[in-house]
Amino acid sequence: MGSAAAERLASMGYNVILWNRTREKAEELAGKINAKVVPGPFDAVQEAEFILLFLSDEDAIYSVMSTFHRMDGAIIINHATITPHGSSRFSSFTQALGGCYVEAPILGGPSALRNGKALIVVAGSRTCKSAAKGILNDLAGELIDLGEEPEKAAALKLSFNSLLIGSVSLLAEAVLLSESYGVDSNLVKEVLSKTIFGPIAEKYIDRMRDDPAKDASFTLSLAMKDLDYAVRTGFYKGLPQHLTASALNLYRYGVRSGFAKSDYTRIYHVIKGRE
Ligand SMILES: NC(=O)c1ccc[n+]([C@@H]2O[C@H](COP(=O)([O-])OP(=O)(O)OC[C@H]3O[C@@H](n4cnc5c(N)ncnc54)[C@H](OP(=O)(O)O)[C@@H]3O)[C@@H](O)[C@H]2O)c1
Repeated sequence: MGSAAAERLASMGYNVILWNRTREKAEELAGKINAKVVPGPFDAVQEAEFILLFLSDEDAIYSVMSTFHRMDGAIIINHATITPHGSSRFSSFTQALGGCYVEAPILGGPSALRNGKALIVVAGSRTCKSAAKGILNDLAGELIDLGEEPEKAAALKLSFNSLLIGSVSLLAEAVLLSESYGVDSNLVKEVLSKTIFGPIAEKYIDRMRDDPAKDASFTLSLAMKDLDYAVRTGFYKGLPQHLTASALNLYRYGVRSGFAKSDYTRIYHVIKGRE
């Protein structure tokens, strides 16, 4: 996601500065888009006007942000999927160091982002948002403002991901049920495409049955992280997430069974292997 955003912004004329924990990855991308690589994340804070975070999870954000000594006027835009609780913590920490924090999760994958078609929801204080709106409008296909509390954007993104990952798991289970009676997946897709499940069947049935070793656009381990964050968030609010918790168990099993780096839709193969 970080590479896709950097490519998109570079193509729009932004002067991009890159930092990645694995420096070689940043160097490789920098060669392609003519960007500068800095040795540490705090160098990026000192040099850049906007700091866009595409880190995998809250632990990664903690470890990166804890290297920041001050953030005089820095505008931190977080695009990673995190909990509302994490969002308000990162926002307070940023404010305490003199910076601005905006939560801007992305509903869409790397190719939508690279092509300027991603849907981004944004929340943060009015001042921070107005500072970030220009770059977010350039990055997004569509930007929806959810107000001043950053945790609202994090909550909505978790709701979306529970729905998406849960639906894909349910679809995988449903396809396998038909297949167990000899009904070909193409026929399942053809029939479902004539119902309200058409768009999801057309988009996911072939993808989920594809080779688990193929490159992932969104990994099974990150999907597991999002389900875990959604279940925890419900727990803190006294709202059990029954179906999401069930999908979480399945994704945990998938990660334990060696599918961590596979695309999250390959949960189909995890369920198939379990039978
Ligand atoms: N892929 C999607 O379709 C999609 C869509 C919307 C939102 N998201 C969210 O966007 C975020 C990034 O997703 P992605 O798919 O781009 O994942 P990714 O390709 O696995 O990238 C994760 C990044 O986090 C870095 N990282 C992990 N742990 C770290 C640590 N402890 N310290 C410093 N850096 C660390 C990794 O560095 P290394 O390269 O060194 O490992 C890598 O640059 C996640 O929160 C994900 O849930 C993903």
